[in-house]
Amino acid sequence: MFDAQVYDYDHTQYQFSDTVLKCIQKYYPGVEKLNLLHKIVPYNSVGSLAKKVGKDLADTDFYERFDNLIAEHILPLVPSDLLVQRFGNIRINVPNQDESGTVLPFHQGQWVGNGLGLRTIWLPFTECFESNSLQIIEQYESRLLTKQCLRYNWSCEDFEQHCLNTCKPVNINTGQFLLFTQENIHGAVPNRTGYTRISIDVRVLLRDGQPHRKWPGSYFRILGDSNIQSRNVNISDTDNVVMYAEYEGFKTQYIDLYFQTLTVREYCNRMGYIFPHQTGDNEGRNHVYLEYLINQGKVDHILMFSIFSLPDDVDRRNYIMNLSLDKGVKLHFANEEFVLDNQEILYKIEYIRNFTNDWSNPTHENKSLVF
Ligand SMILES: [Fe+2]
Repeated sequence: MFDAQVYDYDHTQYQFSDTVLKCIQKYYPGVEKLNLLHKIVPYNSVGSLAKKVGKDLADTDFYERFDNLIAEHILPLVPSDLLVQRFGNIRINVPNQDESGTVLPFHQGQWVGNGLGLRTIWLPFTECFESNSLQIIEQYESRLLTKQCLRYNWSCEDFEQHCLNTCKPVNINTGQFLLFTQENIHGAVPNRTGYTRISIDVRVLLRDGQPHRKWPGSYFRILGDSNIQSRNVNISDTDNVVMYAEYEGFKTQYIDLYFQTLTVREYCNRMGYIFPHQTGDNEGRNHVYLEYLINQGKVDHILMFSIFSLPDDVDRRNYIMNLSLDKGVKLHFANEEFVLDNQEILYKIEYIRNFTNDWSNPTHENKSLVF
């Protein structure tokens, strides 16, 4: 199912390409056909355009429609529910991209932070053929190449050459999508077709699957929860606000203060908040200072790094969250852009935090295959 298989869907129902074209025309009105984008957009602007379009699509109902596609075509293939990547990655592959030195090297998801519980949906907005498309290797061959690569410590060039000898282009058109796992090696070759390829890739996380470096809540959202633009909760001039840091969580124990601070500061910048007074818990004290801060009722907002900054213990976590709701203290989670100010958000946080408990590392497992 997910081993580089191609599926059909009714693209006249979903109209994805039209929405993408409109988003691009906002910046480049001269682009009339997606596959001729390279004639209008300067090469050095292609990367930033792809990023902007990925975000701008969230202002349309694109991701709602994409969720419908997942519900219609992907959910029936999996045993349980899934989380979906918050913002898809738009890829624009223009002709002769190698002349500017940017050919996507061969890799596999598990080498770039994706756990084995992820699956990738790769959906094009233009016709994809031969060298303008993704080049992919089936799972069996990918595993063999991975073993050999690690055993013989191949150089970049060796690995690239072996992949080129084995890969196949994904020849599909609009109305089709490709599914693959985080073990399917893939990459690109110089595009000599004369046509631009534009596609989106969106990852999903299966229940109890291994997320590795892609965090549920920030990277992944709940399927159907496509209102993904930031929710800005008002902080008034008279409100008391603090930033709170801790190191108790299995995910946050190595996120040192500097990085927690950066994340909260960025969140404040995005939301238009003044970066507040900074405080935190004593390491090894089970969030007792957070409990005290909420209980004493003198602060209105507590800004912290993530929903993974809350206690790992489910009872303790629920106690803290309910206490904050009772006392009217709003907890802000910068990495996810969630604000706990009602029961519904509490359920959402619990759904996400309980989605999986597999926090193993796929590359460690690979090493054990070899040695
Ligand atoms: Fe990739």
